[in-house]
Amino acid sequence: MISDDLTFYLAIGLFVLAVAIAYFVFASFLFGAGYEPTPRRAVETMLRFAEVGPTDTVYDLGAGTGAIVFRAARTYRARVVGVEVEPLRYLILKLRRSLGPFADRITLRWGNLFDLTFRDATVITAFLWPGAMARLRPKLEAELPRGARVVSHCHPIHGWTPEQHDTDTDVYLYRWPEAVANTPTKTGAVAHPSV
Ligand SMILES: C[S@@+](CC[C@H](N)C(=O)[O-])C[C@H]1O[C@@H](n2cnc3c(N)ncnc32)[C@H](O)[C@@H]1O
Repeated sequence: MISDDLTFYLAIGLFVLAVAIAYFVFASFLFGAGYEPTPRRAVETMLRFAEVGPTDTVYDLGAGTGAIVFRAARTYRARVVGVEVEPLRYLILKLRRSLGPFADRITLRWGNLFDLTFRDATVITAFLWPGAMARLRPKLEAELPRGARVVSHCHPIHGWTPEQHDTDTDVYLYRWPEAVANTPTKTGAVAHPSV
């Protein structure tokens, strides 16, 4: 009887562990992208293209383990908001922030980037899958202040015209609202966003 109980609780424990591991590994897939750190050279291109400086507030959408967050805060002295949905990576971000300099410049949020408002962002950085980029576009158009720069690695924002595209590191730079204003509509006219 005791051994039956032990087996039962062991099975429950293993099940809970398996669910937890599956959640850690696959949660971010459901939300918009799996984990792959932005390569160092691409990070540099993104921050250089966006002309990030001490007066900027950079939002890294899907901050991972902080390749962009810590570079932007430490080297470029920007204020940075990093949002990450996956709890283990969020924990790593918190740990890295507490161990390094400029912690006061870095705000970390655990959760879904689509629940955040970007109204005080001057720069958006993103390395997300195409579906998430498509869902992001109307949110950016509704919330970004004029003059904000958006830099994306690997995946463009369809319907926006990039100001620059570095084919080497595959980084796109957009400026709001010019990215839309310069994009021809289906009839060939250019759009005029009302911001
Ligand atoms: C390709 S990685 C990029 C990581 C980081 N930006 C970097 O440059 O190294 C994408 C990250 O976005 C996170 N993510 C995906 N969808 C998200 C969502 N809806 N909200 C917050 N984070 C998300 C994933 O968990 C993953 O860590």
